[in-house]
Amino acid sequence: MTSADAGMVRRARFLHELGIGPVWVQRYGHVQKSPVEGLSDVPSRITAAAPVEPLPSVVMVAAPVIDKQEKIASAWDDVSVPVPVPVRAGIAAASAPPVLALASDDGVAAIASMSWQELDIAVTNCTRCPLCKNRKQAVLGTGDQKAGWLFVGEGPGSVEDQKGEPFVGPAGKLLDSMLLALDLRRGENSYLSNAVKCRPVDADGKDRPPTAVESAACRPYLERQITLLKPAVIVALGKVAALSLLGGDPKIAVAALREHTHRYGSIPVVVTYHPAYLLRKPLDKAKSWRDLCLAAQAYASEGKLAI
Ligand code: URA
Repeated sequence: MTSADAGMVRRARFLHELGIGPVWVQRYGHVQKSPVEGLSDVPSRITAAAPVEPLPSVVMVAAPVIDKQEKIASAWDDVSVPVPVPVRAGIAAASAPPVLALASDDGVAAIASMSWQELDIAVTNCTRCPLCKNRKQAVLGTGDQKAGWLFVGEGPGSVEDQKGEPFVGPAGKLLDSMLLALDLRRGENSYLSNAVKCRPVDADGKDRPPTAVESAACRPYLERQITLLKPAVIVALGKVAALSLLGGDPKIAVAALREHTHRYGSIPVVVTYHPAYLLRKPLDKAKSWRDLCLAAQAYASEGKLAI
């Protein structure tokens, strides 16, 4: 079996476990006519496993199998994926940094010219918003610094705050399975980050989404990461990430942002549900898989092999 075939088998296994069975399996970039009525111009070496509703501009489509909800619910969640330990520069956090009451514009120009190492130091010592008061450590991001795929979440939770790596809690386990379904892994052509780099907590010490002010304060770091990475595609996981990358009406629902290829500068951005949401609403995993397929199409059209 070639490594390409092994990848195909692996993805098929994850999709099967998802309960949404692989309808299309994309290999390499050429285009051939779809064997399924209603779909055409899909990449070559695609196999049809079941009839699906035609979806314009979606390269790979998975047909939801919703007769066994429990199976779908346990699919991505139950897959245990070995997570490589991230390599981070050994940089000590500054002790007791002064806290700014509000986001400051100071230093934005400096951030815009930082190297990866300087960014790591700056984020580790950041006091641009009050989130720095409660963090154990800032979480810059992890992965391949030349990755074609950038996944952006909202912010570290308690586990991430302790470990210093994004997406290592329950939502991260699901994200690992989503990566595997795309034949990606942490650190292999993928980079994971968040709209904010410090854990937002509510008055009871529980995780909460970052505010717009906190996101804005942290945005220069995300912008610099994107400039350094130059990813072929960005996947925004949830509304906070989507708003941070694309701006727009804070009241908009993720559902309204899905199924479009947005742009951050020239980089395609696909919005999908946050994995923590998918843990609560597992039936939406099939929709999320369609979003990932749209992202794979955008990745392919940026001139790189899709998956
Ligand atoms: N949720 C996020 O959005 N990011 C993380 O790093 C962890 C959970």
